[in-house]
Amino acid sequence: MALRTVSIDNEQGDSSAGAPVESPDGLRPAQRILSPAEAVKRMTARRRDKRGCYAMFSSYLGGVVTDPAVMTVPLDDHMVHRGHGVFDTCSLVNGRLYRLGIHIDRLLASATGARLQIPWSRDELIQMVADTAAASGARNGIVRYWLTAGPGGFSFMPAECEEPCFYCVVLDPMSFGSGGFDPMADGFREATVRETPMKPPLLAQIKSNNYLLNVLTHLEAADGGGTFGIIVDDDGFIAEACVLNVCSISTDGVFVTPPFEGILHGTTMRRLLELARGPLCDEGLLRDVQQRPLRADDARAGAELIMSGGDTHVFPVVEWDGAPIGNGTVGPVAKRLHDLITAETEAGDGSPGDFIDVQYP
Ligand SMILES: Cc1ncc(COP(=O)(O)O)c(C=O)c1O
Repeated sequence: MALRTVSIDNEQGDSSAGAPVESPDGLRPAQRILSPAEAVKRMTARRRDKRGCYAMFSSYLGGVVTDPAVMTVPLDDHMVHRGHGVFDTCSLVNGRLYRLGIHIDRLLASATGARLQIPWSRDELIQMVADTAAASGARNGIVRYWLTAGPGGFSFMPAECEEPCFYCVVLDPMSFGSGGFDPMADGFREATVRETPMKPPLLAQIKSNNYLLNVLTHLEAADGGGTFGIIVDDDGFIAEACVLNVCSISTDGVFVTPPFEGILHGTTMRRLLELARGPLCDEGLLRDVQQRPLRADDARAGAELIMSGGDTHVFPVVEWDGAPIGNGTVGPVAKRLHDLITAETEAGDGSPGDFIDVQYP
């Protein structure tokens, strides 16, 4: 997900970044050879207001940087020009990393699927993420990390890469609550996505660095008035949204989410399934919880439609393709799941393995 957009001043000091600039040296930009010092100076000026990223670890650099001007990845890293890299994310809440283990397990599964050779153990990866979080000083944020084939050249062959790389960044928590929009009060209006091709199952299950189809899914959804888009396959079944899983609550209290085959094995939906089977059934908000193919028509006729992702995002859909879901307001199951997952992450309650206390310097 994107960093916050900030305006960037250009070298003339106005804020019309991207506008043609009168060149003081009479050279076109691609004629101008910059020294390393000049390049860093220019990057520092451009990134001066970039507050979205607190810290970046690069195994290639062998350290953490906190100046956005030097948060870079070599262009010849095969992740950049061939998409040969995988990533995952986790949340940093009140100084604790939430469910990092389950995310690292998925990262390693993605790396195996992408045939990346990884020199780090699971524990070493966890340690690098925790150390980066500590170095950032941030107590709340999104932590994202990549395993890549590494730098080494511009061919398609990973054999030319020098060494696999691990990069990790700690980002400002992304908020959908800005601009007066509150997902839990307002809910999302979503649109079906049918034109953008679905990923083949291999790619859908690897969280690879190539998110072009996910972005196109979002853009098609946006054309139809949505944001994440609900992907419906040729047989009329719901798959997922561009970066979220989807579940439906029927009018008689049955929670249904599609099987993970052919879509991303969402960590948030796995937790929602546990909460749905536990507290929500105990409290009588749900009668049953099922993971099985979900017909779009059944979901349209349901009481609630909920999207989930990013550990803590429980996003109710109140309208789909212009028609209300249920009574067109945020329903009780979405509210309860949201409250439970927010309380769990904020208080650090739950299974002890789900929380790592960051050791700040
Ligand atoms: C395609 C796709 N589906 C589902 C999800 C939700 O997964 P998670 O709950 O692990 O964030 C994501 C998250 O990035 C995604 O990219």
